[in-house]
Amino acid sequence: MAKALAASPFFRKGRKLFEENRRAWDLPLSKLEKLQVGAYLILEDYSKSLFPPRFEDQAKAYAMEINYRTQLAGISLETTRQTELRKPFWFGRGGVEFLTGYSRLVTVLEQLKVSPPSRLLELGCGTGWMAEFLAITGFDVVATSIALTDIADAQRRQQSIVAKGLEAKLRFEIAAMESVVETVGPRNHYDAVLVFEALHHAFDWRKTVQSAFDCLRPGGWILICNEPNVLHTFISYRAAKLVNTHEIGFSRGELRRHLSVTGFTEVKYLGSSLHLWTKKHWFVAQKPA
Ligand SMILES: C[S@@+](CC[C@H](N)C(=O)[O-])C[C@H]1O[C@@H](n2cnc3c(N)ncnc32)[C@H](O)[C@@H]1O
Repeated sequence: MAKALAASPFFRKGRKLFEENRRAWDLPLSKLEKLQVGAYLILEDYSKSLFPPRFEDQAKAYAMEINYRTQLAGISLETTRQTELRKPFWFGRGGVEFLTGYSRLVTVLEQLKVSPPSRLLELGCGTGWMAEFLAITGFDVVATSIALTDIADAQRRQQSIVAKGLEAKLRFEIAAMESVVETVGPRNHYDAVLVFEALHHAFDWRKTVQSAFDCLRPGGWILICNEPNVLHTFISYRAAKLVNTHEIGFSRGELRRHLSVTGFTEVKYLGSSLHLWTKKHWFVAQKPA
């Protein structure tokens, strides 16, 4: 049934657009067109038991995340680098959303009484824009990503701080978030561990929560920021399939339960921000003192 529907004239446009999208990652698509392509792909892959996606091969999942930037069809590496290094100052809604996310993060840190020069660990930092801001603010920051290209560019942000003559404590490390306690550590050290729009890329988010717990000092806080809800698994399917990256959405209840199971107390849901069709979760939770 799903296979017949995907092959039907009803999804002709979706099929055609996906072929174009394969050649041009940034093909401009309207919301309706995204829906047409996404629905076609989900039906097609459901009929082959490929949807919902299962992520079973850690080495493959890591390789895809590491090589993400080289997989963007029709875009040069230099263009991607320029785009990433301009983050969060993207013109329009994207930029406004990043800056809104950052100001929300700072407000939450202040409410939790985590203030400079507290020690922060960021997981999945991309090219490090948030870590740069936090270090300039006065926090002592270690920021990590699995991708060598991310960290190479993040170092440029660090150099820009030095060029401004500012004193800041900022270190970038290549590290998978699931095993960050073993590779970067140290244990029982950080006042807060934060992850912003990156936990949904983790190969094993439960292991990541455990690793964050182990890195925190007693009384320290985990901040899970702007992570998408379950609809994301459907909405991001087209984009994720183009580059084979790991994209899942979270159930709020599942996140909450797992934070408690890991040993966090004071698990607080800070509500979600409306973002297109998905809601983004914000959680904070404290390691017992
Ligand atoms: C959507 S980006 C978000 C980056 C950053 N937080 C930001 O706001 O720009 C997801 C990031 O997570 C990283 N990532 C994906 N899987 C990872 C893993 N298992 N361990 C560490 N980093 C990972 C990616 O390389 C990328 O830097």
